Amino acid sequence: MSTIIRASAPAKVNLVFEVGQLAANGYHPVNSLFLALDLREELTLAKGELGTGISIYVHGDSIPESHINAVPTDQSNLVHKTAALFAKKLGVATPDLQIDIHKRIPVAGGMAGGSADAAATPRFTIEELAQVGAELGSDVPFCIYGGMALGTGRGEVITPLEDLSFETNWLLCASSKGLSTPTVFAAFDEIGFGTAFTDLNDISAVSSAQELGSRMSNDLEQAAFSLMPSLSEQVAQLEELGAIRAMVSGSGPTIAALFESEAKAIEVSKVLISQGVVALTAKGGAQGSRLDG
Ligand code: C5P
Repeated sequence: MSTIIRASAPAKVNLVFEVGQLAANGYHPVNSLFLALDLREELTLAKGELGTGISIYVHGDSIPESHINAVPTDQSNLVHKTAALFAKKLGVATPDLQIDIHKRIPVAGGMAGGSADAAATPRFTIEELAQVGAELGSDVPFCIYGGMALGTGRGEVITPLEDLSFETNWLLCASSKGLSTPTVFAAFDEIGFGTAFTDLNDISAVSSAQELGSRMSNDLEQAAFSLMPSLSEQVAQLEELGAIRAMVSGSGPTIAALFESEAKAIEVSKVLISQGVVALTAKGGAQGSRLDG
């Protein structure tokens, strides 16, 4: 099998996720603060036999096998959709490709795992890719940009921000079951809870993890708790164990916990792993999608 290309894209957490009322287009307007993490999905693309179309193989050993098994390998896989959409935009036939996806981001976890796969699918210019990416999912453009950024519209309009001046250390607790994004947004509509959008442009000037933790919020958190009550206990447990702030990531159910240091995050991960929790450490501010060779 001749390798054409290797590419990768990062996971995201939403440091702030403010959600407005459901709009006529079926989406909720959001005011979101994204941070990319150095937890990357890796894609390897090789030319397939003539006429075989796109075939996808998914694997990974740092997240539960149930997550790997939950990823479709047919036309509904976001990588498949991305490759097919690019081919259509270019006016060429769908390519014959063997695509290997090394998954590291929890599946259906509110961390943009599928979006990162789409973002890592080889590209045109970053702007063109972001534009096409938005048709595939609201989080795809951010996974293309990486770093830290504001997301407005339905989350797909990206304004890159200056990086934070300090390192952020995260512990991510994956759930064995996923939560569907539309279901969480529907629960949000029922609860009728949301905050007015705030100005997040000054966030790059925050000077410590403590200060950043005090700015974190997620309007979807109560909706995720209502669907999976154990999540609120997990947030409380993480904060008792020393997290500066623990919060549902995006539409969940992954919990993202911010720690003062990498050593502390690793120490707490060991406690949780011994209790059977899938706990992954990561650093914030990672690069967006890129070619790795
Ligand atoms: O854009 P994405 O495919 O990730 O969205 C999945 C679903 O989540 C949408 O069809 C919509 O029901 C919901 N959603 C929303 N408002 C957003 C983003 C997603 O209601 N800003």
